[in-house]
Amino acid sequence: MSNIAHDYIEEYIRSLIPESIGYIKTLEEYAKENNVPIIHPEVAQFLRVLIKSHNVKRILEVGTAIGYSALVMALAAGDGCEVVSIEKNDSMYELATKNIKIMNMEKNIKILKGDALEVLKDIEGEYDLVFLDAAKGHYEKFLPYCLKHLKINGLLICDNVLFRGMIATNKLLIRRKITIVKRMRKYLSNISNMPELETVVLPIGDGIALSCKVKEVL
Ligand SMILES: C[S@@+](CC[C@H](N)C(=O)[O-])C[C@H]1O[C@@H](n2cnc3c(N)ncnc32)[C@H](O)[C@@H]1O
Repeated sequence: MSNIAHDYIEEYIRSLIPESIGYIKTLEEYAKENNVPIIHPEVAQFLRVLIKSHNVKRILEVGTAIGYSALVMALAAGDGCEVVSIEKNDSMYELATKNIKIMNMEKNIKILKGDALEVLKDIEGEYDLVFLDAAKGHYEKFLPYCLKHLKINGLLICDNVLFRGMIATNKLLIRRKITIVKRMRKYLSNISNMPELETVVLPIGDGIALSCKVKEVL
């Protein structure tokens, strides 16, 4: 139960998505068995549609975990794509490196080990898509670096922005999550009102914010 959409809506939407096969399915099973929080199936499908429709080739991701979403995005982006993903946890970094090797995607996916707050400072180049999927309470701090490296008309996608419904209503709020909730509400208000971005928040998965960079941030 995500508290984002009714269970029957979520189940129906998921039933329409073709089932994963091969090693991608193995990774989904691994994540489930080991409680690794990977993107929900409808979010994976959402990323595939955006990547293919916008001919996305260069992707920056914050939060690699086992490399599942990096692989999903790289497979959707196809030949010549480049995914740079940042992960601070050593064992996740090792697992993602192993998984990317098994999938023969080392040429397309590079994982940078370290805290994104530090690693992002050294990022170079321009990206077609930035995917934020780590440390919900720090999205605001990641934002200036992400926008700096996002091309005009590029897409910023942030996962878990509705955080089990807690962002939208205090009725679902768990007290110890109050700081994250306050920060996320501020972040969503910020990206929804910045003249440099056009943003929509969508109730799929744990909540997605999709923004398009419409002008340079000065
Ligand atoms: C939700 S998981 C990412 C899942 C992945 N995107 C997927 O769907 O396959 C979040 C990951 O972000 C990492 N993380 C959290 N804070 C971070 C930070 N400040 N810098 C880099 N990685 C971070 C965690 O260690 C965790 O592996």
